Amino acid sequence: MGNTGSERANQFVVAIDGPAGAGKSTVAKLAASRLGFSYLDTGAMYRAVTYKALQQHLSFSDKSALASCAANSKIEFEDTVNCSAPRVKLDSHDVTDAIRDPEVSRNVSEVASEPEVRSCMTSLQREIGSRGRWVVDGRDIGTVVFPEAQVKIFLTASIEERAKRRFDELVSKGYSPVLEELISEIAKRDGIDSNRKTAPLKQAENSYYLDTTSLTIDQVVDKIYGIVTVKKGQP
Ligand code: DC
Repeated sequence: MGNTGSERANQFVVAIDGPAGAGKSTVAKLAASRLGFSYLDTGAMYRAVTYKALQQHLSFSDKSALASCAANSKIEFEDTVNCSAPRVKLDSHDVTDAIRDPEVSRNVSEVASEPEVRSCMTSLQREIGSRGRWVVDGRDIGTVVFPEAQVKIFLTASIEERAKRRFDELVSKGYSPVLEELISEIAKRDGIDSNRKTAPLKQAENSYYLDTTSLTIDQVVDKIYGIVTVKKGQP
């Protein structure tokens, strides 16, 4: 069923794409809350499928097993009081923390390069974002999922800075990462995400390029808030 006229008039998408560790989810979450928009973390969806594939000991080279794993995964986002972002549910279980495990991070790019997995996730993302006002972050949001998004941002930072941010995040969660290993892991993910055949990571046309290497989170959120506010004011 298509959207009604008033749903269309109320619909607004801010698409934020960029490489691993650029700070997309932190910034997207804060920008959404400041704008009064909902937040959709599409990376969490690919992570949930990867988590399930690991649980089921699927081979990452078995394309049809991955495709049916994606098709049979019930992924939902649940708003909770006192939580800055919705909880992620997979087949009715809360996997919000489990999908951030380094083992999932190491394998998710491979799962996300599967065209059938992508097609499944893209449909779900369009369905979720078709009503209301959203900040959506990922790799192909402005290029493939919502090419008509009212605002598109390409968020990036130097690889050293991105690895350092990931390092700090993992330390704060009790892991003991090695910076050099994170740099090569991120470089590998960048390579897979940018060179895959289906929906590779690239800057969308008409998008704002934001290099956050020497910006604070607040400065980035301010910039996005400013861009969206100007755009919303336009007829
Ligand atoms: O943003 P993240 O690190 O949680 O994303 C996890 C992986 O999912 C990332 O390596 C690329 C993939 N991804 C994707 O291919 N397309 C998206 N829209 C979002 C994430």
